Amino acid sequence: MKNIISANQFKKEDLEKIITRAKVMEKECKSGKIKKLLKDKIVACIFFEPSTRTRLSFETAAFKLGAQVISAENAMENSSAYKGETIEDTTKILCSYADVVVIRHPKAGTLEAAAKVAIKPLINAGDGANEHPTQGLLDLYTIKKEHKRLTNLNIGFGGDLLNSRTLKSLVPLLRQYSGNKFYFLSPKELELPREFIRELKNNGVLFEESRSLEEKLPELDVLYMTRVQKERFPDEDSYNKVKDLFIFRKKHLKNMKKDAIIMHPLPKINEIEIEVDSDPRAAYFRQAQNGLYVRMALLCYALEL
Ligand code: NCD
Repeated sequence: MKNIISANQFKKEDLEKIITRAKVMEKECKSGKIKKLLKDKIVACIFFEPSTRTRLSFETAAFKLGAQVISAENAMENSSAYKGETIEDTTKILCSYADVVVIRHPKAGTLEAAAKVAIKPLINAGDGANEHPTQGLLDLYTIKKEHKRLTNLNIGFGGDLLNSRTLKSLVPLLRQYSGNKFYFLSPKELELPREFIRELKNNGVLFEESRSLEEKLPELDVLYMTRVQKERFPDEDSYNKVKDLFIFRKKHLKNMKKDAIIMHPLPKINEIEIEVDSDPRAAYFRQAQNGLYVRMALLCYALEL
């Protein structure tokens, strides 16, 4: 049994295995011949924060592999958390019903706490502004598929880097591959936490920070835009001040390489102009679809199947 709690837990050989497995899943899905590797298994999906893609792709992945799903969405209100049950108690109960448990929670570190009492594999579907490892893995799969390589890439992250848990899972994965350089593009208010930056520096990771979304566009192979995470702001006013500072517009496309891709974990609000969607370099809907194949692979990984 294997938990999936943090992107930092993966060695390069794990990543290669997961990517290969996801490729097989994609092929099986497209041919309509899917091996029911999770027959008689129960997958629990408990989401204490809203989700469209993560929860529904996990549930679809489970069904495709022949598993059954039990799920609580809006679990802050619709589960015993509302009555004050601890995550540890909830986790113990879920482990007594299901074979694998997928949890999203607004508080950073919740999955680590839950893992201490879990007797079934746990999957982190996002814990506050901390991490979102399955998103990081599907992002990695997408970059591999689109660029045919994971090395020697210039990857720009734009928007709310302070609160982006998807960035915090994707960067540790990409830095395992040689020649990658990161560009962190954000207004001052939304810059990456200094301790994250310090850690990169101390480990010799190549990166630049910039206060401009435009300046570095011609150098990028990947532009990864992020939503300003409204739910992490103390009040509406502080959110309103920064929400429209970084918008990727149609006019920016001409400054980008012909084979660059634009990614986004979605949902996008207005940080990417809608006209960008029809450009072939807009990869975010393909990225979301890849989530299904990667999560199929990850359910198998967690159950060591
Ligand atoms: C992300 C999340 O929830 O962290 N979405 C997702 O899982 N695809 C990013 C976001 O909500 O902005």
